[in-house]
Amino acid sequence: MRQLRNASGGAAMLATDGVFSMDGDVAPLRALSLVARAQDALLYVDDAHGVGVLGPQGRGTVAEAGLGVAEVPLQLATLGKALGGYGAVVAGDADLIEHLAGVARPYLYTTALPPALAAATLAAVKLARRDDWRRARLQELVGQFRIGAGRLGLELMASNTPIQPVLCGAEATATAMSAALEQAGFLVTAIRPPTVAEGRSRLRVTLSALHTPQQVNALLGALAEARAHAARAAA
Ligand SMILES: Cc1ncc(COP(=O)(O)O)c(C=O)c1O
Repeated sequence: MRQLRNASGGAAMLATDGVFSMDGDVAPLRALSLVARAQDALLYVDDAHGVGVLGPQGRGTVAEAGLGVAEVPLQLATLGKALGGYGAVVAGDADLIEHLAGVARPYLYTTALPPALAAATLAAVKLARRDDWRRARLQELVGQFRIGAGRLGLELMASNTPIQPVLCGAEATATAMSAALEQAGFLVTAIRPPTVAEGRSRLRVTLSALHTPQQVNALLGALAEARAHAARAAA
């Protein structure tokens, strides 16, 4: 905050993820929008992990927080996550978008997305807006996973999104558990420093609306096995 105040005359931007990609928690966007307003800063939200998943019609964290373009003039939606495609979209204030279209280097100097991908994105957006059941299913699976993991004594983070990190601490534990899970048929990547802080290595469990409760149960069983396997390897 102090830094922004000191930048007299300069344009300031307050940039945040909507859903933090490694912790799964949601940014306090209403509070951040007040800070941005007080500082005359432009609030930019990278909603890669919120679009399709959170908010009414899957419109993401900004809509979920009850905010719009007045408070968040720039939003990034990636198309390769919930929407199952590739690429990204920047949406927001019309003047800003026009400006970006004139100066954004990746936009000016990179081949545009192929029309087939644009068409696939439009179809995915239609599904995402319509299919509330996918978001409801995801929330059920997230709840099931968190309760089950809690019973197993696994250390979770304060996330209610489909990104459910399981803290392992040591890097070797995370990689050993990830390898054991892969053997059991579960692709759960180990996230290690420098992506996360030293001693905060974790397994990044990512749930999908197309997973089933049976699969989540099987994953919980495999996590318990993997933990035992990693403990044996460390002994
Ligand atoms: C918060 C965030 N923004 C942007 C991206 C980039 O997305 P893409 O790989 O589709 O370019 C990622 C990728 O994981 C991300 O986590």
